[in-house]
Amino acid sequence: MNRPQGEVRVFADAEELGRGAAREFVRLAQHAVAARGRFTVALAGGSTPRRVYELLAEPEHREAVDWGRVEFFWGDERAVAPEHPDSNYGMAAAALLFKLALPPERIHRIRAERPDRDAVALEYQLEIARALGVPADGPPPPLDLILLGMGADGHTASLFPHTEALREPHRWVVPNHAEKPRADRVTLTFPIINGARAIRVVVAGAEKALTLMAVLEGPSDPEGLPSQRLSPDVVWLVDRPAARDLAGGRDA
Ligand code: 6PG
Repeated sequence: MNRPQGEVRVFADAEELGRGAAREFVRLAQHAVAARGRFTVALAGGSTPRRVYELLAEPEHREAVDWGRVEFFWGDERAVAPEHPDSNYGMAAAALLFKLALPPERIHRIRAERPDRDAVALEYQLEIARALGVPADGPPPPLDLILLGMGADGHTASLFPHTEALREPHRWVVPNHAEKPRADRVTLTFPIINGARAIRVVVAGAEKALTLMAVLEGPSDPEGLPSQRLSPDVVWLVDRPAARDLAGGRDA
């Protein structure tokens, strides 16, 4: 039996999970700005984080963050235009970014709609390096927060089971392809994800319960359950239905 990978905080339901994740985002943002003058964050895609972003745009949280000091990146992006309903950028922009008066240079969108996704990945690595003020050919810089979700197949970002991207040792960003759901993607890799100062994974819904138990408490299966490759410093923010099958788990 694997020891649980990281701290697990259980919230009563998806709404409480959203509120808890929004509070954690604000806490980490305030700490980073106070310590280093800015907050560098890679946003998650999918559906679970949408509520987190909507809550961050509400006065309680919007007024608690100096948004002009936030650098927005993405953990991954689908091969679609920014206005496409599947766009991770588009989801975050509608839920949060368009509601804030942000300098456009602080929003680092992955241009995954372009056909040459390997070039997109290389360009994104250069953009991260430029924004963080580090060489693009060295080790990945530590982002202050990487916010992630987890799929029912155990993937995170666009690091899908049994794909080469799981084993990328050096590049910070790579293209990837998934068969189910069929999709071309561009994704951050584990070297940059696990190098972040904070990794928070939001997981909601009973349909994730068996996978979450397998990832956290099951036998090691890093090829079949990519989320097992996350650093043990990860903090899982989950709702009670998703935590249903965990041996432990505690209310936040
Ligand atoms: C994506 C995400 C992906 C997502 C999981 C969970 O682009 O889809 O990066 O990793 O976080 O698939 O998605 P849900 O939150 O919709 O369940």
